[in-house]
Amino acid sequence: MKILEANGANIPALGFGTWTLAGEPCSELVSKALAAGYRHIDTAAMYDNEQAVGLGLKGADVPREQMFLTSKVWPTEIAEGDLQRSVEASLKRLDTPYLDLVLIHWPSTSVPMAQSIKALNDVKAKGLARNIGVSNFTNAMIDEAVALSEHPLACNQVENHPYLDQHKMRDTCARHGLSLIAYCPLCRGGDLFFEPSVIAAAENHTKTPAQIVLRWHMEFGDAGAIPKTATPSRLKENLDIFDFQLTREECAEISGLVGRNHRICDFEFSPKWD
Ligand SMILES: NC(=O)c1ccc[n+]([C@@H]2O[C@H](COP(=O)([O-])OP(=O)(O)OC[C@H]3O[C@@H](n4cnc5c(N)ncnc54)[C@H](OP(=O)(O)O)[C@@H]3O)[C@@H](O)[C@H]2O)c1
Repeated sequence: MKILEANGANIPALGFGTWTLAGEPCSELVSKALAAGYRHIDTAAMYDNEQAVGLGLKGADVPREQMFLTSKVWPTEIAEGDLQRSVEASLKRLDTPYLDLVLIHWPSTSVPMAQSIKALNDVKAKGLARNIGVSNFTNAMIDEAVALSEHPLACNQVENHPYLDQHKMRDTCARHGLSLIAYCPLCRGGDLFFEPSVIAAAENHTKTPAQIVLRWHMEFGDAGAIPKTATPSRLKENLDIFDFQLTREECAEISGLVGRNHRICDFEFSPKWD
């Protein structure tokens, strides 16, 4: 497994995303993911599945200290005091004494960044979070957040896949020593798996299109990805990407799909992407 060394955090580059998973199936998938070799599990207060994720962690035969557990605080909860309470509630639902990474899920237009970043630092200082970071921050916001943060930030978790140009964000993260963790790394499947460049690489390496796309993420130095699957057989498939490399030409061809410029997670509360 590739490990991202991000300002003191050691983040397994390939994690298991849990958005939309719930209840017993979620717990079972989390346990199965850990049994298959995943060590990085991604959840959020907003996913309403932290209790199920926690049961999944308990059901696995993996010591807690070998896991890397991320959760996120929703932007309505990031004011001083609210953020700390949100993290404490996440810990209670997950039934764990600490998180490996706590992220601000989306930037807020109403809470000043100085306040939310200070509160985020407080959960690190209190030992509730081993590492802190952000999600869905723009390049300008990363510069601002890094300048405001007493403890270094470990990552920006953002949408990233071959259909979206994130080269500027890659540079911004690298400049500050942050990892770029890709959500929607598979662009939720569909067209991407039928791209000729993806299919050609899959045939060349005897891998599936999903494995080629995930391997493409891994070819970037400080990049991780957290694919979600509700299909147990795909857990192993998505992890089985560390025994080959894409050629420079294959990477360039897949990166060339960026012209489609497709963003899935764009809401009225999203920041103005830069
Ligand atoms: N920070 C944020 O704002 C944010 C936003 C969105 C997501 N996230 C995180 O990122 C994670 C991943 O993003 P996502 O779930 O939106 O998108 P994704 O991982 O790109 O795509 C998930 C979709 O791909 C399918 N899939 C997975 N593995 C496959 C394979 N090997 N072959 C074919 N299809 C496959 C899944 O189908 P099945 O499930 O049917 O197998 C599912 O429909 C989320 O679970 C969440 O943890 C964070």
